[in-house]
Amino acid sequence: MKLRSKHLLGLEGMTKEEITLILDTAEPFKEILERPIRIVPTLRGVTVVNLFYEPSTRTRISFELAEKRLSAEVISFSATTSSVKKGETLKDTVRNIEAMKIDMVVVRHQCSGVPYFLTQCLDSSIINAGDGAHEHPTQALLDLFTIREKYKKIRGLKVVIVGDIKYSRVARSDIWGFTTMGAKVAVCGPTTLLPYEIEKMGIEVHHDVDEALEGADVVNVLRIQLERQKGGFLPSLREYTNKFGINVDRLKRLNENFTIMHPGPINRGVEITPEVADGPYSVILNQVTNGVAIRMAVLYLLSGGEGKVE
Ligand code: CP
Repeated sequence: MKLRSKHLLGLEGMTKEEITLILDTAEPFKEILERPIRIVPTLRGVTVVNLFYEPSTRTRISFELAEKRLSAEVISFSATTSSVKKGETLKDTVRNIEAMKIDMVVVRHQCSGVPYFLTQCLDSSIINAGDGAHEHPTQALLDLFTIREKYKKIRGLKVVIVGDIKYSRVARSDIWGFTTMGAKVAVCGPTTLLPYEIEKMGIEVHHDVDEALEGADVVNVLRIQLERQKGGFLPSLREYTNKFGINVDRLKRLNENFTIMHPGPINRGVEITPEVADGPYSVILNQVTNGVAIRMAVLYLLSGGEGKVE
């Protein structure tokens, strides 16, 4: 089986079979990453450009490692050290880069829709590494992989996403991904940080975190985007922590063998306490490890790869 598109713009519209294909393909790649020599020739001769217009630690390094583990040629572009600083437009920038003969572009941008825009002006395969508040598909895929790895299933699990849902591309991709895979998804946050009519995505909506956590298997704690605090979305960070912060006391409401996730970066002591973030039920670093295998699978499949790798 192959993916239907040569681009990965989001999980919206992706079928359960396609998501399963990516998760299944990531499994042998994870095994390769655990070997003493963690490199395979799968993408030899393929040139990938990592085009980052926004800061990133996890996604950027994870994609770079995934590309290098697959033997691709890797070019890393940072807007802050490029001719973007001299006023060059996005379209001119990417067309010039493509004129140097490349095959794939991994893009992170502060504006929603930029990955789609690139599909309209380039022939390369485009992978969304996070666009504005729209989607962050590889984050959701690594979240799904991490949960499937632990529970051996996704269907029927109750997944609660807590925090700034409105501006979170992770929340949107996780909602599409987990609902497509049959999980029961609930979101919880202050009214000002919940999108209007979000329940139409087929999920539960809560304003009381203790109520939301009742009987949950997985809690995905989102970063409070401190850069938005001047927008007046929250009365104060202390109030947010009191009302929505995930602490040890709140974990009592969860199902046995529950899981704590966070896409990072963490604001310790704001949306999550250090005891929970570093506790025995946290899979935060497993998520990061799995991100490399998921990105290897995505790069392999989008470059025309088929089914599982052996
Ligand atoms: N999860 C995530 O996207 O982290 P970075 O911003 O560090 O890439």
